[in-house]
Amino acid sequence: MNMTLGEGKGLIKGILDELKNPETYTYKTDVVICPPFYLLNLAAGMTDGAHGIYVGAQNCHYEDKGAFTGEISAPMVLSSGAKYVIIGHSERRQYFAESNELLAKKAKAALKTGLTPIFCIGELLETRNAGKHFELVEQQVNESLFDLPEEEFRKIVIAYEPVWAIGTGVTATPAQAQEMHEFIRKIIAKKYGEVVAGDLKILYGGSCNAQNAAELFSQPDVDGGLIGGASLKVADFVKIVLSA
Ligand code: PGA
Repeated sequence: MNMTLGEGKGLIKGILDELKNPETYTYKTDVVICPPFYLLNLAAGMTDGAHGIYVGAQNCHYEDKGAFTGEISAPMVLSSGAKYVIIGHSERRQYFAESNELLAKKAKAALKTGLTPIFCIGELLETRNAGKHFELVEQQVNESLFDLPEEEFRKIVIAYEPVWAIGTGVTATPAQAQEMHEFIRKIIAKKYGEVVAGDLKILYGGSCNAQNAAELFSQPDVDGGLIGGASLKVADFVKIVLSA
């Protein structure tokens, strides 16, 4: 929940001016810009899907339409020109009481509509300190995603975001990120097989910045990042993209 319309438009334009520049266009990763709802359609028009740059929403409701004042549905997001939607961000879980069960419904709604869910999981500091972080992450994946048939599950992107690292300046070490990503891939291999697990994109999020991104992304099971604070500065975000 950052930036007004003009500010957000300026930020997106700044990022696109850099990333669409043939001299900086050397990155191999897809880039998904996930602004607040009021910028989705504008951002989609600015990106046009060119240069591997797409737009995503930060949330959606599980029903297609109806009396849910203040909410936005997956078909609405899709009609804006967005292709992705973040589901289960820790702030949605924490401040809006979104449960694994509710998030399972949201993931299904997004997939049914043709959006790619970027599904967020991750543990609180207390959970890690109690040595229960693997168990918790397994439960989040199990209760929200393991109901999906393989052909649907394959379309999902997972973002591992330890809650203690989000917006705190405390990043997971590359070894901590790798350890958890490897674990996530292992539980997915058990359920859907090695091929699906190997193809799955698992992003790391939580104080990822221009200084630490390259090392995090160099870990074998870290496929990219979910960038919060550092995405609000053009130069930092572009540097992160170029290091992917
Ligand atoms: P951060 O945020 O990069 O500022 O820690 C990550 C997020 O919002 O998911």
